[in-house]
Amino acid sequence: MSKGIPYGRQDISQADIDAVVKVLKADYLTQGPKVKEFEDKFANYIGAKYAVAVASGTAALHLCTLALGVNEDSKVITTPITFAASSNCVRYCGGEVVFSDVSPESITLDIDKVRALLESSPKGTYEGIIPVDFMGYPVNLEGFRKLADEYGLWIIEDACHAPGGYFIDSKGKKQFCGNGQFADLAIFSFHPVKHIACGEGGMITTNNKDLYDKLLVLRTHGITKDPDKMTENHGGWYMEMQTLGYNYRIPDILCALGSSQLDRAVENLERRRQIAKGYDLAFENTHVKTIVPPTGIGHAYHLYVIQVENRKELYDYLRTKDI
Ligand SMILES: Cc1ncc(COP(=O)(O)O)c(C=O)c1O
Repeated sequence: MSKGIPYGRQDISQADIDAVVKVLKADYLTQGPKVKEFEDKFANYIGAKYAVAVASGTAALHLCTLALGVNEDSKVITTPITFAASSNCVRYCGGEVVFSDVSPESITLDIDKVRALLESSPKGTYEGIIPVDFMGYPVNLEGFRKLADEYGLWIIEDACHAPGGYFIDSKGKKQFCGNGQFADLAIFSFHPVKHIACGEGGMITTNNKDLYDKLLVLRTHGITKDPDKMTENHGGWYMEMQTLGYNYRIPDILCALGSSQLDRAVENLERRRQIAKGYDLAFENTHVKTIVPPTGIGHAYHLYVIQVENRKELYDYLRTKDI
């Protein structure tokens, strides 16, 4: 019997299983060496200076808004076409979310509309922007950075759909999603439907050392054990709780799986791009509207989005075919 085509399904290799079993037999299930190993490997893949592994993409977003000081007075702009977590992270801190529309070509935040929103409000109204590389389509963050600087805003790039995605900047350089060149912070998810599967898991990347240091403390109850960062030092046993933090840690078991998955990220992304090309050709000259990125856009294809008039009928029909 055919199992049909699911929304998403992880690919687990023998190497992944071996990596996890090794941790199960080792000393640390959590807070061990696999966490930093995964962080360093991921930062290197994305091209960012620092990476902080956490329990989920949602936890990553929450830590970002905490680290940037979002509170009841904050107003933040994001896209309405994304997963709920992209805006919930602002609400967790009591801030207000303002949606700005997307461009029909990329289904990502339309920079002209964000500019119009900023121009029509008194300076200081907004604190930050959360652009989302929706579907895996990389947002051109060079433009957003210029705009954000004009208005003194921070940027959190929600790159959950886009590890390995890139755009070409004005100097002709490839800028990979989450590499921290233009965004203050970027986040990723390792839910099984994403490119890299941990079960649950997330990552924050940044080039900003101060934010990196804050995130490390916030991830683990707001407590530091680093003598250089303490206000007092009472000896080896002493730890200091400096702020209200959370337990957003990810176990070593999952980091071992993520690290092993990351070894196949390049080839898996290439496979996604090949499949997308097949869809592009198949839908050419049909009534199905597709998003075909221009040259210079490295789409990461978490999703392949189509636009049709009769969405519900098509959905119901596909369900009858186990798709
Ligand atoms: C764009 C986007 N942001 C954030 C998240 C949250 O990630 P997680 O499910 O790992 O908490 C998701 C997950 O679906 C997502 O698609």
